[in-house]
Amino acid sequence: MANASGFLTPHVPSLRRKIQPSIGFSRSGFCFSEGISRRVVCSSGVEGAGTHVSPSQSRVPKLVSKGCKLVGCGSAVPSLSVSNDDLAKIVDTSDEWISVRTGIRNRRVISGKENLRNLAVEAARKALKMADVEPDDLDMILMCTSTPEDIFGDAPKVQRELGCTKSQLAHDITAACSGFVLGLFSASCYIRGGGLRNVLVIGADVISRFVDWTDRGTCILFGDAAGAVVVQACDADEDGLLSFDLHSDGEGARHLGAPIKDDEINDLLGSNGPALEFPPKRSSYACIQMNGKEVFRFAVRCVPQSIESALEKADLKASDVDWLLLHQANQRIIDAVATRLEFPPEKVISNLANYGNTSAASIPLALDEAVRSGKVKPGHTIATSGFGAGLTWGSAVIRWG
Ligand code: ACO
Repeated sequence: MANASGFLTPHVPSLRRKIQPSIGFSRSGFCFSEGISRRVVCSSGVEGAGTHVSPSQSRVPKLVSKGCKLVGCGSAVPSLSVSNDDLAKIVDTSDEWISVRTGIRNRRVISGKENLRNLAVEAARKALKMADVEPDDLDMILMCTSTPEDIFGDAPKVQRELGCTKSQLAHDITAACSGFVLGLFSASCYIRGGGLRNVLVIGADVISRFVDWTDRGTCILFGDAAGAVVVQACDADEDGLLSFDLHSDGEGARHLGAPIKDDEINDLLGSNGPALEFPPKRSSYACIQMNGKEVFRFAVRCVPQSIESALEKADLKASDVDWLLLHQANQRIIDAVATRLEFPPEKVISNLANYGNTSAASIPLALDEAVRSGKVKPGHTIATSGFGAGLTWGSAVIRWG
């Protein structure tokens, strides 16, 4: 099991009392200098934060430690709503079973010309508008998804559709339902250590393409969506990405996955070279296979520990935090984690009933709804956690605005 909690710890300037390893940057990449109690800030860094710095210009970074904050969010969902009763028409299930066991009542599923990219672009445009940031003011786009339209990634195409003209770096991050938290962490590293100013983090998934709609054990859970945030460089005392705690465990991968499988067409080609075992067989991805009970156990065991660890790194207690916003997988998981951490129900954000599990989109989608409805206000702190296939799980303590 990979435990990254110590290694992956950016500084928390305003809230942390303990001395943490500081993150530095060299030409060869990030370096983490254990035991250095003083943050290293190069002299020209603060001025750099006020002017546009493209990734290509920032090879010699000016600033190795500063804050980053969330300045905009947006989301998009498909138009087609599928209710539990609709599902009961295609598999042996009922509204009662699904809502009691999961808390889900509806989910949105792509139809017609809708796809991952146009959901991601719509969410991104809304986030940019709220942040008052132009596409060309972005220094980087991180597209967190496990269901790209192209196996080589979708971020550059989203970049093009947004109208970015400066060839800023855009790339995908694959970490299933933990993808968005990992995207936030990556944005904070690029800003703190890489001298970037505006990073767009998109969490988007169209899981419906990889669901077996005849399997009642999985098809009831998932929906499609996209959410996005703009993370912006700021002074250390305004920092809004307070701490992270990130993990993975490949041992648990057998409980949840959509592995590649040989295409049936190979049977037709089989006579052409079995002796050489060449060419390799053509493959596609299987539908999601899940041991729901094991995933449930993993989530209620690991997520509270991870959030506790993130809170400790931020030098905060659960009672100091305004909101708990978990990956929206199952209301029973959300309730169990909230109870364990002693978060009262009124401090728990949940929109699972309307959208189901939207994978990497679930956290930014719920955040966007909570911000736009006025629930989450500037200055509010949020403990958030993603968990899912990999297995991967990760938590962050963030401050909105
Ligand atoms: N409708 C009616 N009955 C059903 C359904 C259904 N949709 N699904 C299963 N059942 C039946 C089962 O066949 C079983 O029947 P049996 O007792 O006669 O054998 C019974 O209900 C109980 O099934 P369980 O699987 O034990 O039900 P459980 O209470 O564990 O709930 C669920 C299943 C909802 C999937 C739950 O285990 C869960 O939410 N797990 C976590 C899933 C999760 O969070 N996944 C994250 C994925 S995110 C990512 O990374 C892609």
